[in-house]
Amino acid sequence: MKKTVRDIDVSGRRVLVRCDFNVPMEGGRITDDRRIRESLPTIRYLLERGARVILSSHFGRPKGRPDPAFTLAPVAERIGTLLERSVPLLPDCVGPAVEDAVARMAAGDVVLLENLRFHPEEEANAPGFAARLAALADLFVNDAFGTAHRAHASTVGVAAHLPAVAGLLLEKELAHLGQALDSPVRPFVAILGGKKVSDKIGVIRRLLDRADTLLVGGGMAYTFLRAQGREIGASICEQDSLGLAAALLAEAARRGVGFELPADVVAATAVEAGADHQVVDAAAIPPGWAGVDIGPRTAARFAGIVRGAGTVLWNGPMGVFEIPAFAGGTRAVAEAMADSSAVTVVGGGDTAAAVEAFGLAGRMTHISTGGGASLEFLEGRELPGIAVLQDA
Ligand code: 3PG
Repeated sequence: MKKTVRDIDVSGRRVLVRCDFNVPMEGGRITDDRRIRESLPTIRYLLERGARVILSSHFGRPKGRPDPAFTLAPVAERIGTLLERSVPLLPDCVGPAVEDAVARMAAGDVVLLENLRFHPEEEANAPGFAARLAALADLFVNDAFGTAHRAHASTVGVAAHLPAVAGLLLEKELAHLGQALDSPVRPFVAILGGKKVSDKIGVIRRLLDRADTLLVGGGMAYTFLRAQGREIGASICEQDSLGLAAALLAEAARRGVGFELPADVVAATAVEAGADHQVVDAAAIPPGWAGVDIGPRTAARFAGIVRGAGTVLWNGPMGVFEIPAFAGGTRAVAEAMADSSAVTVVGGGDTAAAVEAFGLAGRMTHISTGGGASLEFLEGRELPGIAVLQDA
């Protein structure tokens, strides 16, 4: 358990808040502001108590120098709209102009620092840069769950200089993901998808220890099917991971953990919109055809298992959901979770984007704002941005 903003006196204090405002953007327009909306409870909490709130974030990967394509200006504007007040974007995140602006802040004011990654010292976690950032404030609040797996100056370095506590979003993420893993309402069903088995080995191992049933779809399912000796046509297959996939299947059987692979799939002649596609048996994908989604029989089976679950944890789409013809399986799983009375927890990244795109986000118990971070958390790895925070 980590201390949170609730455990400290923030009134009148200068509070450096690390958020993850790394939101998807197209042509300077924010296409999904969930990470910003999820940051509001902490910001409001601090403002209501008269703190001077200095927001900070990275955006994209600007290679350590200022680049207008990576400005946080659209984010400042969106926070302002959501808070119904102006949120000034400072010209940089350190330096005299920033120090002056912060010195002029009154209790209850809020500003946003410009993209931290305009300085190479941010990702290098350079001590001098961390000290300059920290000098802007009296307290540090980390609310950037999505960046908690990065040991950068603004997530780890600053904690050497300031009392460091968790924000309300970070607290909520740890509570939901932690509860699903450590004290799930049973049966505990984990749904895993995404392209590669190799990306999810750590998570599969950990879930074999905790879940009652694993449902596997997405690109990674074909490596498992191949490991069982099935014909998978031109489907994505990680040759190097076939042995590992076989070992994981054996491990699941040995432990009595259900491990469900697709029984049917949507196969296509190419992974692109408009390609010829058909539903085929997962054991017999024709040569030259690639599996791009779980089939309707599998979707119905997975949905039935979700209906009987006490907890459902989902990470990774069931197919190439960005192409509407191949989105049926991912949508079916999302709908089953939305309809279920189970505790439903969705890992971030692509899975969150899919649930958001289907308009079902409001019907899940929790959707993580972390992509890489939620994966590392589920693997049981220590996240450096959390480790540095004060213990409760
Ligand atoms: C994310 O979107 O996963 C986080 O904001 C971290 O971004 P990064 O992978 O560029 O460090």
